[in-house]
Amino acid sequence: MNTVTLIDNRTGKKYDFDILSSTLGPDVIDVRKLYTSIGMFTYDPGFTSTASCSSTITYIDGDKGELRYRGYDITDLATKKSYLDVCYLLLNEKLPTKTQLTAFDNELRKRSFIHEGLKGLFNAFPDRAHPMAMMSSAVSALSTFYYEHLNVANKEEALVMAHRIIAKIPTLAAFTYRRSLGIPYIYPDIERSFTENFLYMMRAYPGENLEIRDVEIRALDTIFTLHADHEQNASTSTVRSVASTGAHPYAAISAGINALWGRAHGGANESVIAQLEIIADVKNVDAFIARAKDSNDEFRLMGFGHRVYKNFDPRAIILKKLLDSLKDELGIDDNLLKVARRIEEIALNDPYFIERKLYPNIDFYTGLILTALKIPKSMFTIIFVIGRSVGWITQWIELQNDTEMKITRPRQRYIGEKNKIL
Ligand code: SDX
Repeated sequence: MNTVTLIDNRTGKKYDFDILSSTLGPDVIDVRKLYTSIGMFTYDPGFTSTASCSSTITYIDGDKGELRYRGYDITDLATKKSYLDVCYLLLNEKLPTKTQLTAFDNELRKRSFIHEGLKGLFNAFPDRAHPMAMMSSAVSALSTFYYEHLNVANKEEALVMAHRIIAKIPTLAAFTYRRSLGIPYIYPDIERSFTENFLYMMRAYPGENLEIRDVEIRALDTIFTLHADHEQNASTSTVRSVASTGAHPYAAISAGINALWGRAHGGANESVIAQLEIIADVKNVDAFIARAKDSNDEFRLMGFGHRVYKNFDPRAIILKKLLDSLKDELGIDDNLLKVARRIEEIALNDPYFIERKLYPNIDFYTGLILTALKIPKSMFTIIFVIGRSVGWITQWIELQNDTEMKITRPRQRYIGEKNKIL
């Protein structure tokens, strides 16, 4: 076993720690015995240098701008496979045969209906309730309709919960949209595919056999695939932390939805479009770039920068190509696209962004496509939830089977008062 040696120069004592190898990416230093052997903690706010688990699901190389699901490159999956192919791959560790995909698709269609009782929850929200608040509540509430089927120790039951959650989240998402407008809910149509069904439930009038263009279905299906998983990001780490306490996946994913809502994370896609609308014209871009660079100004360029990618986010590259190919067919807002392009052009040549390796991330372009699909800003992070639901539940299942996993309980560096006397 290879090791690294730590020397405490206060005592001259040496401590050896094992190096655990990885199949791709950095190896890890096993510090599990660090505290018991040297009486100190590691210190890593935000976990910039900390591996929280071992996983076989997703691999990211931030320097190369590489992303793989179960070893397959994201560009191949996003351009050659459907979102349901990717869901099956993440959950079952292999791509489905035609027969397996058909069976999986049929099961999700049948499970896409939600209990009528959930309408009461949606109707209880005020008119201006944000869809993300409704969504996290609805996913948590979903568990109350399956209280006899929450045995997380049963692998078969856990897989059924996974299928149930993946199938019902688009319906819940469409219900949040319909509730926000106060218009009648549209039930799933099992004659329609996963992604088409979501657009149908968002747009149709009651009783209308709405035609949806294939170009729109394919664009949204690609967006779902690009959002499917992303190793131990903030919301997935939240799901894992809740899962580590033994909580069922509805509770864990409801917590993940709330973590994703933050504008530094999944909420960024909504902020990007809001920002492009505020900038409004390419002539204003320079002033906003200057603000983004000013450390005294809290303004940040939304959709730029990433904890892991220190190169282009491969998902942003795929979305940019999708934009170019569908610009006319989808009727992308030309002015906002020009503003986005100008931001990217300036930022990629500006030392401030180059030194900090700040590139466009997945959120930078998503909003332009979603706007063209007539999905309102308030629903952008909900789209992220739909895509990421399979990644969250796959990570939840992996944790259940991880013999090394313990309840998440980090320590701290205490810098408070020593001994106050009453
Ligand atoms: C997602 O983790 C994932 O995988 C997430 C995600 C997924 O699929 O799950 O990829 C989805 O959340 C994408 C990121 C969406 N968020 C945004 O677009 C919001 C804007 N970006 C930033 O807030 C920021 O870049 C983060 C939060 C994404 C990353 O922050 P880090 O890694 O903690 O980096 P940092 O805040 O320490 O910034 C390093 C430097 C700082 O400058 P200095 O203090 O060194 O002078 O870069 C600067 C920051 O001020 N900086 C920015 C910036 N992002 C970082 N300056 C201007 N604009 C920005 N967008």
